[in-house]
Amino acid sequence: MSEETLSNLLKEDRRFEPPAEIAEHANLKSEAYDRARQDREAFWAEQAERLDWSQKWDRVLDWDDPPFAKWYVGGKLNAAYNCVDRHVEAGRGDKVALHWVGEPVDDKRDITYAELQDEVCRAANALLSLGVGAGDRVAIYLPMIPEAVVAMLACARIGAPHTVVFGGFSADALASRLEDCQAKVVITSDGGYRRGNPSALKPAVDEARTKTDVVEKVLVVRRTGQDLGEGGWDDAVDVWWHDVVDGASADHTPEAFDAEHPLYVMYTSGTTGKPKGILHTTGGYLVGSAYTHWAVFDLKPETDVYWCSADIGWVTGHSYLVYGPLANGVTQVMYEGVPDSPERGRWWKIIQDYGVTIFYTAPTAIRSFMKQGAEIPDRHDMSSLRILGSVGEPINPEAYVWYRHVIGGDRTPVVDTWWQTETGMIMISPLPGVTHGKPGSAMTPIPGVAAEVVDEAGEPVPDGSGGYLVLTEPWPAMLRTIWGDDERFKDTYWARFAEQGYYFAGDGAKKDDDGDIWVLGRVDDVMNVSGHRLSTTEIESALVSHPKVAEAAVVGAKDEDTGQAVCAFVILREDAGDGGDDIVKELRGHVRKEIGPIATPRQIMIVPELPKTRSGKIMRRLLRDVAEHREVGDVTTLADSSVMDLISQGIDSGRSED
Ligand code: WTA
Repeated sequence: MSEETLSNLLKEDRRFEPPAEIAEHANLKSEAYDRARQDREAFWAEQAERLDWSQKWDRVLDWDDPPFAKWYVGGKLNAAYNCVDRHVEAGRGDKVALHWVGEPVDDKRDITYAELQDEVCRAANALLSLGVGAGDRVAIYLPMIPEAVVAMLACARIGAPHTVVFGGFSADALASRLEDCQAKVVITSDGGYRRGNPSALKPAVDEARTKTDVVEKVLVVRRTGQDLGEGGWDDAVDVWWHDVVDGASADHTPEAFDAEHPLYVMYTSGTTGKPKGILHTTGGYLVGSAYTHWAVFDLKPETDVYWCSADIGWVTGHSYLVYGPLANGVTQVMYEGVPDSPERGRWWKIIQDYGVTIFYTAPTAIRSFMKQGAEIPDRHDMSSLRILGSVGEPINPEAYVWYRHVIGGDRTPVVDTWWQTETGMIMISPLPGVTHGKPGSAMTPIPGVAAEVVDEAGEPVPDGSGGYLVLTEPWPAMLRTIWGDDERFKDTYWARFAEQGYYFAGDGAKKDDDGDIWVLGRVDDVMNVSGHRLSTTEIESALVSHPKVAEAAVVGAKDEDTGQAVCAFVILREDAGDGGDDIVKELRGHVRKEIGPIATPRQIMIVPELPKTRSGKIMRRLLRDVAEHREVGDVTTLADSSVMDLISQGIDSGRSED
């Protein structure tokens, strides 16, 4: 991020005090920061008491062999029991767990904790009958339907780590994830609803199965009833959910697993072409997600109606739609579709209909609502809202203030929560009853968490300066490793500041004059498009796999709507000539097929050369200048400084498309 943006941000001087009512009844008060700092392990032991353990831990943290952490050593628990059964046993079986709202209007279901327990038990028994045992991996490739939650919890219940693959990913992306974690079973559906139309999912699983033979069974939920097409059903492999789950017994005794038993693998983009399987384990992750959900949203489980708009295919859907909220026994909304179907006020109507009190979404969504204007939300009564949250990318101050004002009626604190797939839980955020809000700042590490902004040498920067964001102490929900690749785990996160033993998050940040943290975005080759992490290298590999492409460089360019957008510079192979009239369209289609629609470049520029240093490294900084229509910066380190002229000429001659 440029110095200019930095200083603009820091000129932001609007401040919002916590509302008296929230401050007075806040779950955590300001003393918690000190208490946690004085004895971090005692603090985390206290937080672990919010769960039910079949066997208590002997040791809170084993950090004898960093960076490999063990939390709650010797403890045993069942995650699904903690999210479901214990609420039923406590007499809250009739309480609604999920107000599920389908995209087609009038398609809704309220599911109580008791009903959820039945469903999870049936699904667990069904998985067992399909040969899934503790430790086996199960992939989940589903739309936002209740079965997605049930499937995750059923896996957790029998100790089978799940890997949820976002429904927007292509067959190829699905296949590489199935292969990497050797998933034995895939749970999918015929399709889901997207903007009023059924959109197929099952064919992508079928296609993925032609690329990997690890999958033994595919369990299919009937959601849309759409035709599966010729060859769309394989009796040897495919089974209907309603055949095996509905008929299964609703009795299932949960087994207690070791606190360090793998709970799930979530794939996320790194700086290389190969996605990383982030491994989370049971005890620490559940403590971290439950504690943060309670603390950061100041959750009052008896009265709050909570809604997180994230898809289950991302970590936010894991920590703040499934594990955190359900462990806390809250009533929540789960919505299947897009914000503007069938009309643009759909989200606000859901908030009004269900009396949502806590709402958690992403800046990219807020910016798109801002564009549509305040009239649409203004038509709805959203006075039930008391706390708003933001996640996924830096929230620009204007979006923050609009969110607070238009959606929150100026009553609601906005918590800008910084965290990552790897951290498993919110790490840096205001506490709504304690911290005053500064638009654009994630403020301070929450109690129990330790973070710093450091310079190249790993020294903390003074207030008012920028540097690298690091986490300086282990935390319960931290990733344990990259699935099957301990070396990559060490290299990616722990090598940069190995001497200090810091976890390097890959983000740049600045401390303002009060020492509060402003997260500025990635400092590596990872882009953030609509809050989704994409790797430049992964998209480059996808482009280069096209027969007409010789070389490709991808950068994330600033974009008003999506934060960043994918911009690709492509050199064609000689034998491809000029690539033909449809080359740009062809390449975009190719990326969509290889990775998925979210990775589709906004812009592809066919260029004769790429700017490289003498050591052959692509200078993305210069390409970003071109993509953002800026004057191209310093070119003196280029091996051939005329390259930038060639690129500009190529673009001017019209070989690009927005
Ligand atoms: C970015 C999503 C600024 C950041 C939970 C991080 C943010 C990456 C914020 C993780 C925020 C997330 N302010 N940037 N409040 N929240 N990020 O793994 O660059 O999909 O490293 O996890 O998103 O993305 P991930």
